[in-house]
Amino acid sequence: MKIVIGNDHVAVEMKQDLTRYLEEKGHEVINVGTDESASFHYPISAYRACKKIQDGEADCGILICGTGEGIGISANKMKGIRCCICSDPYTAKLSKQHNNANVIAFGARVIGPELARMIVDEWLNAEFMGGRHQLRVDMIMELEATGRLSGIED
Ligand code: RB5
Repeated sequence: MKIVIGNDHVAVEMKQDLTRYLEEKGHEVINVGTDESASFHYPISAYRACKKIQDGEADCGILICGTGEGIGISANKMKGIRCCICSDPYTAKLSKQHNNANVIAFGARVIGPELARMIVDEWLNAEFMGGRHQLRVDMIMELEATGRLSGIED
């Protein structure tokens, strides 16, 4: 798969570790930075990574900051992005099976490198289940597009 990866200054080491891990498994990893230890605004990395997905240059994305929250919230402001912010493999797996998450975010200050690898594996290996979950994902996308749910009263 083509996987885009982005991070802030807190997560350079974890990004580099995951990049090596994914490349060893045969994935193509597109790095949008940062690779510096100087303070870096995480919305920039979220924007650059999600733009690659929107433009069809990457299949999915991994975002890492201190907690995963700032970079994940930023990603979820981008059209067509469903970013799961999570710290455990179970949530990661279900985020693909039920929510068809195309981006995953976590925190380098929250989890260690082994757990990060497990989370990424569960998410990449899972498949979207469709069916009733497709209807709900469609509703998420309608909320994104219109701010409303057709047929649902306020
Ligand atoms: C940086 O200090 C920190 O705020 C950032 O990495 C992240 O945790 C924000 O959500």
